[in-house]
Amino acid sequence: MVRGVRIAGVGSYAPERILSNEDLAQLVNTNDEWITSRTGMKRRHIAAADQATSDLAIEAGRRALARAGLSACEIDAFVVATVTPDYPFPATACLVANGLGAPGKAAFDIGIACSGFVYGLTVASGLVRSGVFRRVMLIGAEALSKITNYTDRSTCVLFGDGAGAVILEASEQNCFLGTSLGADGSKPEVLFQPAGGSRMPASTQTIEENLHSIHMSGKEVFKFAVSKMVDSALTALGEASLSPDDMTYLIPHQANLRIIDSVTKYLKVPAEKVVVNIQEYGNTSSASIPLALAELDASGKLKEGDVIVFVAFGGGLSWGAVAWRWAA
Ligand code: UT7
Repeated sequence: MVRGVRIAGVGSYAPERILSNEDLAQLVNTNDEWITSRTGMKRRHIAAADQATSDLAIEAGRRALARAGLSACEIDAFVVATVTPDYPFPATACLVANGLGAPGKAAFDIGIACSGFVYGLTVASGLVRSGVFRRVMLIGAEALSKITNYTDRSTCVLFGDGAGAVILEASEQNCFLGTSLGADGSKPEVLFQPAGGSRMPASTQTIEENLHSIHMSGKEVFKFAVSKMVDSALTALGEASLSPDDMTYLIPHQANLRIIDSVTKYLKVPAEKVVVNIQEYGNTSSASIPLALAELDASGKLKEGDVIVFVAFGGGLSWGAVAWRWAA
């Protein structure tokens, strides 16, 4: 039996330490003007040396539970979307479930880079709607600073750390309106971490050549991002016979303000409907959308029946969107 799903609670966490554009100008040959005009970023939050991705995820999860008025043992499954797991294995979600006080529950990770939250929302909503689980906690969590090369100015200015969690719950009302997901694995090297996997295991050479960090052809990524985000947002809305005019909020992956502005322009969405916090967090990959949703929720602006489109793109290459109706 297919039933409905709603978001029962949202929470987020970002580490205290701030890395500003001025701080980055001390590390590499860059400046505030370049970073601001090319990306829209001003600051990023950076995990402490002893903080791993699960630590950020657990704090976001705690806040989502508090917002929903639930305890961890009332959650049936934990899903973490991340490209910076604590370990290659076990899954970070296992550590998160344990850390939240719910050992024994189902737990798994989703590794689809910056598209992780929209993929995760589709999968987790499907698990709830099909009756497999009553409640699933989905967390987008990243400690990207741990895989950022702070001698490479073309990437190190972009990334930050953070986590955002949502609790999906079975409901009479169905908030999941539509989805559109895609991937093209023909050119993984456009955005990837070259070493540390089975294709290029860790060695002295991979460490010396900085191959355990993010490598990216920024222009290539930029080119595909706008069209894929526009197409997937329209398809997800179309599944519910909706158009961009019906959208109350657009929550895009926060990778570059110029990308967000182009998507906004193509979709003809007024700026006040677009949630942007890139200036504060930089690009936090799978955490960026739930961080933005948590801020919107905390602002008190969200109202019953609001239509939200979550849209993302990233490594894979991958992309996707989910159209969602907000139920308080
Ligand atoms: O979640 C998905 C993750 N990835 C993305 O979303 C990336 C998408 N791409 C982008 O956001 C943009 O391509 C970047 C922000 C990465 C780069 O912006 P761009 O306008 O495409 O710049 P560019 O790569 O064409 O570089 C222009 C110039 C180059 O100098 P020359 O060759 O023209 O002399 C770069 O060397 O800017 C230089 N440059 C910098 N200058 C100062 C590159 N990085 C920096 C820097 N500070 N940090």
